[in-house]
Amino acid sequence: MENIAAISSAAPAARFNIYAFIHKAVRAFMSDTLARIGRMDAGDEKDTAANLQQLRDLMSFCVSHLEHENNFVHTAMEARQPGSTSRVAGEHVHHEESIKALRAEADALEHATGSARTTAAFRLYRKLAVFVGENLEHMEYEETTNNAVLWQHYSDAELRALEGAIVASLSPEESALSKRWMISGLNHQERVELLTGMRDHAPAFVFESALGMARTHLSDQDWIKLSKALALPQARAA
Ligand SMILES: [Fe+2]
Repeated sequence: MENIAAISSAAPAARFNIYAFIHKAVRAFMSDTLARIGRMDAGDEKDTAANLQQLRDLMSFCVSHLEHENNFVHTAMEARQPGSTSRVAGEHVHHEESIKALRAEADALEHATGSARTTAAFRLYRKLAVFVGENLEHMEYEETTNNAVLWQHYSDAELRALEGAIVASLSPEESALSKRWMISGLNHQERVELLTGMRDHAPAFVFESALGMARTHLSDQDWIKLSKALALPQARAA
């Protein structure tokens, strides 16, 4: 278990945290999905199908996230501090096994009927809760221990370049899911930073699609704040 008393002093604010935005997206996606699976009416085909689709999207997102960390972040850590990823690499193997098990639980639920279906839904919910709990602890370890290694051996410019290489490697589906959950998971200032970066450095359609997601998923209050901060035409007209 992580020691929460140590968290406030763990990250020097001056350094670039390569995990910050994507882990907020992962936490938001996991929390939302866990709550949805808890609320799911397994006797309602439509409700079940929609929630299992989100669960399966989350599992795919988690697999991609693991691969990016293994291929880019862990490779960088091992290059300058051999052996520094052994604990988290082992946890990633465990997460892959959990994802396989959760996918099998979702399939089993879909094929079950009557009381067996209700039982399968509760089992899926509890297994997902444990998976989420393990990932929350795991991400905190990465943001303290892994970051300490990265900050010791890499400059912020190098870490930003590493993040850029990860972003450039994303499929359109991975990119869309990352943006959708960052928009929901980030605070106002971070959201403005993310969208300003897209407007300045990405093709126009990337910024436009992110704006569409923000309009769909943010509260009216947060959307108005974002529109004003980005000086969007609709904000000027309001
Ligand atoms: Fe990880």
